[in-house]
Amino acid sequence: MSTDARLSPLRAQAGRVTQTPLHTLVADDPARAQDFALRVGPVYANFARQYYDREALQALFGLAQAVDAPARLKALFDGEKINLTEGRSVLHTALRSDLSDAPVAKAAHAQALEAQVRMRALIDALAVSDVTDIVSVGIGGSDLGPRLAVDALSGPAPGRFRVHFLSNVDGHAAQRTLAGLDPSRTAAVLISKTFGTQETLLNGAILRDWLGGTERLYAVSANVERAAQAFSIPPERILPMWDWVGGRYSLWSAVGFPIALAIGMDAFEQMLAGAAEMDAHVLRTPIERNLAAWHALTSVWNRNALGYSTQAVLPYDERLKLLSNYLQQLVMESLGKSVRTDGSPVEAETVPVWWGGAGTDTQHSFFQALHQGTSIVPADFIGVVRADAPYPQNHRALHANLLAQTEAFANGQSSDDPHRAYAGGRPTTMILLDALTPFSFGALLALYEHSVYLQSLVWGINAFDQFGVELGKQVASRLLPALEGQAQADDPVTRELLGLLRGS
Ligand code: F6P
Repeated sequence: MSTDARLSPLRAQAGRVTQTPLHTLVADDPARAQDFALRVGPVYANFARQYYDREALQALFGLAQAVDAPARLKALFDGEKINLTEGRSVLHTALRSDLSDAPVAKAAHAQALEAQVRMRALIDALAVSDVTDIVSVGIGGSDLGPRLAVDALSGPAPGRFRVHFLSNVDGHAAQRTLAGLDPSRTAAVLISKTFGTQETLLNGAILRDWLGGTERLYAVSANVERAAQAFSIPPERILPMWDWVGGRYSLWSAVGFPIALAIGMDAFEQMLAGAAEMDAHVLRTPIERNLAAWHALTSVWNRNALGYSTQAVLPYDERLKLLSNYLQQLVMESLGKSVRTDGSPVEAETVPVWWGGAGTDTQHSFFQALHQGTSIVPADFIGVVRADAPYPQNHRALHANLLAQTEAFANGQSSDDPHRAYAGGRPTTMILLDALTPFSFGALLALYEHSVYLQSLVWGINAFDQFGVELGKQVASRLLPALEGQAQADDPVTRELLGLLRGS
């Protein structure tokens, strides 16, 4: 069946549901406040302010059954080669949980545990050295997850190591990162699944030269040979990665080495345990009570039934301010596809644009458009119940704003003055963590990962390749000689711009 045919009953449901204002749907069925909420360990999510009703939800659950979601979740955990376009298993779950009896998943889990033992030993050795600072060099999946985790989970005072991140090929990034660091007390970790990524190779070379050798250089890669060759790093300082882990799903592997350096190996393992709790829930829970399924089906509803083209993620916790950057890669690199796994056109809208930022700052930047703009933007609001900062008054104010915004988005407010009227009907999901800990953080990220996979099943696309990023890389490598003055560009516009960039 085509994706469009599968989704068209949802559009009929949406036509019916939106006859009634969102606040009336909630007022007429107050039990939704409890019934549309789920909890998995420290993660609670309330979907009562999404613009659907019980009948529409049944249609969404039917959709998940129609695409065989439970069996296909099992296929992921079992290490079946569900990344069909690359002929690979997708086993990030095996990095943190042991939920499958399939030999390939068991073997992957054993490899992950072995790598954790090596990580711990390297951290223990560094802890008794003079090193105070770590520079993590990587980009995309080899950067965003660790960068987010370190920012979210580090305490207010630095731990044993201060961890810095360098990703952009722009030399100003390297200049800024290294300013103020002492090469004799700094170690660098070069992280690249392929070890063929231009940014990481160039920045890695800057670090090697700046450190004055390879003695305090570490690497994480699925291409150990290339890492060893290109940077002369001995194998005992190269941690493994595998082709069954996608870059954007890799922070649970040794790609998380900088996380473990920043928060300690025990806390890193807590993060894995939190993800494992979410894994177990998602694998074993029927669709109707499955948190990742609710999240995914809600996204599909907003995209395909209501037609919204962007999705915001709005953590009300300063420590999660990088979450939207991380999710942009996780969601948009996974679901930004227009053809189905078999190569046929999807014939339905796939991923919306994901964006966001931390509240309450965002209330004073783009919230005007969310309240009164012509485009409706569904949003995930994320709050944290327990404060870890010693300012209870601020935390209460943060929570007041969190509650107020979601209420205002849903209910709106009428006014005789059109400039002061709020239409309401803006759908939101409220996700609450009991506290921001490595465990709850791991569970939250795993929820998003599983939601992404479930959305891909509905659309019939492969969430685990990313051929879309290749063309730009190819053109850039063709143009590099032109920037060095050794070639000309074929394209007339590029030629004109090249003249300006080369100053000639
Ligand atoms: O350009 C996109 C990408 O291929 C991502 O998928 C990946 O996470 C990133 O580049 C970095 O790749 P690598 O870890 O191989 O350096």
